[in-house]
Amino acid sequence: MKLTNNKIVQLLNIKYPILEGGMAWVGTAKLAAAVSNAGGLGTIGSGNMDASLLKKQIDTIKQLTDKPYAVNVIMLNPHIDEVIDLIINEKVPVAILGAGNSSKYIPKLKDNGITTLAVVSSENLALRLENAGADAIIGEGMECGGHIGDVTTMVLVRKLASILSVPVIAAGGIADGPGALAAFVLGAEAIQMGTRFIATYECEAHETYKRKILEAGIRDTIITGQKMGHPARIIKTPFGKKIAKLESSSPEEAEEALVGSLMKAFVYGDEEHGSFMAGQSVGLINEIKSVKEVIDDIMSYLEKNQIVESETR
Ligand SMILES: Cc1cc2nc3c(=O)[nH]c(=O)nc-3n(C[C@H](O)[C@H](O)[C@H](O)COP(=O)(O)O)c2cc1C
Repeated sequence: MKLTNNKIVQLLNIKYPILEGGMAWVGTAKLAAAVSNAGGLGTIGSGNMDASLLKKQIDTIKQLTDKPYAVNVIMLNPHIDEVIDLIINEKVPVAILGAGNSSKYIPKLKDNGITTLAVVSSENLALRLENAGADAIIGEGMECGGHIGDVTTMVLVRKLASILSVPVIAAGGIADGPGALAAFVLGAEAIQMGTRFIATYECEAHETYKRKILEAGIRDTIITGQKMGHPARIIKTPFGKKIAKLESSSPEEAEEALVGSLMKAFVYGDEEHGSFMAGQSVGLINEIKSVKEVIDDIMSYLEKNQIVESETR
């Protein structure tokens, strides 16, 4: 396998097949630029931003890197149409569409020359989005942080690789070289990580957020929002446990408490009201590293295991 010259590396014009997953709040231009500068694909997580907020992030990343980067767009964003237009006007190299059925937006982005990837947690949606013209599909397993589906990365990625013609990117539960190696063996052509990049110097999350990731074990996450139809994996804090309980007795109250809760975790490290979104891979992460170290460590592992031919690096 020649990972430094595979379909994803060529499609995205990057050095290494490693993507930063879109992360609302957490995926700032600074973190994304660090990932792109280290040879991966950095991603601005546009979350619920309107076009003017996103424009500032795009202006910043253009100052911090001359490498390709992506903007992640979630289908729930009330400003989605203006955000899509901005991506086109700003000639953002890559759009990553997540959290829902993005088939409506793929043709428009593609017609305007934007490389477009789509995130899925099911094989049926993957086939629809491939049909709609997605250049690659990101399969996100239920181990991942943030909003989740109900199939594991191990099974989903294998399934997608066997039914799709476009390349598959594996997301969920990957935090190091062995996890990445497993994804490539399953048939993925790149990996996407979210949680691992939170525990980096360049991530602008509050120190408490990073500390919680280092401290948490593999069983220390919990799923909230399941009853309300938008399950999300967060670190098991008293707040998380309270929400999970409240969902059964008073879904409205639970819903209300979740509004702005990721922002409270990211900006203030607020343990009482914040959702510290993170995947099960928290249990594999024991130290803060630079983004470059995270990426280089994975690539060195792959090289040692002869997945990357060393002379290509
Ligand atoms: C804090 C956080 C916020 C996230 N927000 C988004 C988002 O806005 N859009 C999206 O498509 N995925 C989102 N995700 C999922 C990531 O893009 C990525 O696929 C996932 O984190 C990969 O799994 P991992 O956390 O095990 O590395 C988020 C994940 C985290 C941890």
